Amino acid sequence: MSKIRLGVNIDHVATVRNARGENYPSPLRAALFAQKSGADSVTIHLREDRRHINDTDLKEIKSKLKIPFNLEIAATNEMLKIALKRKPPFICIVPEKRQEITTEGGLNLNFKKNFLKKIINKLKKNKSRISLFVEPNLNDIKESKNLNADCVEIHTGKFCNLVNKNKNHKNELKRIKTAVTLGNKLGLEVHAGHGLTYKSAKILAKISGIKEFNIGHFLIGESIFVGLSKTIKNFRKIVK
Ligand code: PXP
Repeated sequence: MSKIRLGVNIDHVATVRNARGENYPSPLRAALFAQKSGADSVTIHLREDRRHINDTDLKEIKSKLKIPFNLEIAATNEMLKIALKRKPPFICIVPEKRQEITTEGGLNLNFKKNFLKKIINKLKKNKSRISLFVEPNLNDIKESKNLNADCVEIHTGKFCNLVNKNKNHKNELKRIKTAVTLGNKLGLEVHAGHGLTYKSAKILAKISGIKEFNIGHFLIGESIFVGLSKTIKNFRKIVK
């Protein structure tokens, strides 16, 4: 079985920074840490409202990171212009609602279909790998192929929620497996992301045909506990 690539989403490093309006913790530093620690790529979502990652983060990460960065964008003219200028190696097109806490579901591929087609072709000509963030449903996988995407990223939010709450996740797992099989059959590279924890990632890593995971919120949250003790000890030396 080939190795699954790990994309580390660092949006929430920027969330913590922005909560205080300071210049730390630095998303660039987190991106370089991810690189040093074995991540295969770094994901950042430049939202319309810039609630976490901002344009300067994008510029800095683009200029300093050696591993590929994956820019998540909504299908808008503003984001198309930015992506054409910054030429991210990877792009994932995601739905975006201003009021949502996070990306709540996959794209509605019947909405603005011609526009989606147009931007996918433009971005591909600009040498970015294009992925569409979709629900694990067969129509969306087929439609992603019709739209000429290179990859699909399957939204694993529902599955992860069930796993987290120790609820029956059998049907959702089956839906994901069927979607992965179809994606592979159509020649799409299949990725998975949203809500992944150690437990849910372990289950999904057993499905053959998933080539990449993109993990953010849990990974950044868990890092607190991996690093808290060392940080307190550092302060203990200062505060004697
Ligand atoms: N993949 C995509 C396309 C996303 O939009 C997100 C959330 O921004 C993630 C993966 C990561 O999700 P989480 O932060 O829940 O791990």
